[in-house]
Amino acid sequence: MLARNATPNPEPSGGAGKDVGAFLKDAALRLRNPRTDREGPLVFGVDLGTATIVITAIDQRGLPIYWDSLPCEAIRDGVIVNFGDAVTAVRKLRAAATQVLGTEILDAATAFPPGVPSAEARACHYVLENAEITCRALVDEVSAAQALLKIRNGAIVDVGGGSTGVGIVSDGTIIALDDEPGGGHHLDLILAGALGIPVEEAERRKRESSEDYSIILRPGIERIGSSILRQIAGRPVSSLHLVGGAVRVANAASVVARFTGIPTTAYPHSELVTPFGIAMS
Ligand SMILES: Nc1ncnc2c1ncn2[C@@H]1O[C@H](COP(=O)(O)OP(=O)(O)OP(=O)(O)O)[C@@H](O)[C@H]1O
Ligand SMILES: [Mg+2]
Repeated sequence: MLARNATPNPEPSGGAGKDVGAFLKDAALRLRNPRTDREGPLVFGVDLGTATIVITAIDQRGLPIYWDSLPCEAIRDGVIVNFGDAVTAVRKLRAAATQVLGTEILDAATAFPPGVPSAEARACHYVLENAEITCRALVDEVSAAQALLKIRNGAIVDVGGGSTGVGIVSDGTIIALDDEPGGGHHLDLILAGALGIPVEEAERRKRESSEDYSIILRPGIERIGSSILRQIAGRPVSSLHLVGGAVRVANAASVVARFTGIPTTAYPHSELVTPFGIAMS
């Protein structure tokens, strides 16, 4: 059951495509399956995540045209631990996109988690350049999410594989940014420990049937809630906007809303917000 202040679907926000929920549902259909009625040259983004590397494309109208992703463990919390593997994954995604879309990918934007030192952030730029993509913009992930969500006031919370980033938005501008370890991988560890199964199996079960494990996962989601409150640090925040793959577990928004006492919106296909926001940056 949803907590009273949890909102399962976003309200029209005036963001991309006027309605973020509709944009994301449409975007989800574009996995290796491009929209054919695109207009003008495509604009690309590459999300170098801890769990997955994602390439996205929008057209001149800002509509989602294409995306693809590869699991990759070359990046941990914004720090590139295996440069060669990261470049290889981006090259593969670029080659596949070039073939399917029939267009060269000359440049793309990319992003780093807030709080990452500038030397590490620059490494994201070098990953693209080594995959023969000019890095046209390097932004933090929360600002990228805001490029799509365009919220006026509240906090954007990006819960990825490894970390939880929080950006506080006031009058449409991000006024504070932070990031802490803790995300979907930590939920896997909790499930694996509770069931006595390997982490990979826990990851599979969490994705396929998280509602069956909601009692076990709840303390892990509450830990994400306490990370959010720590990062908000007592500032007035009227709403939380959850993005990132980790919040796709059942009841994430209601658990976070109840724990934090702040009305919380979960977006459909929340894992696509930051990747498509990067293309919009
Ligand atoms: N359908 C799903 N149900 C539950 N969890 C999911 C689902 N899809 C993805 N996840 C979880 O989301 C996490 C990955 O999210 P995301 O793709 O946003 O991370 P990332 O961008 O690679 O990581 P980070 O932002 O921390 O660098 C993983 O822990 C994965 O298990
Ligand atoms: Mg991410």
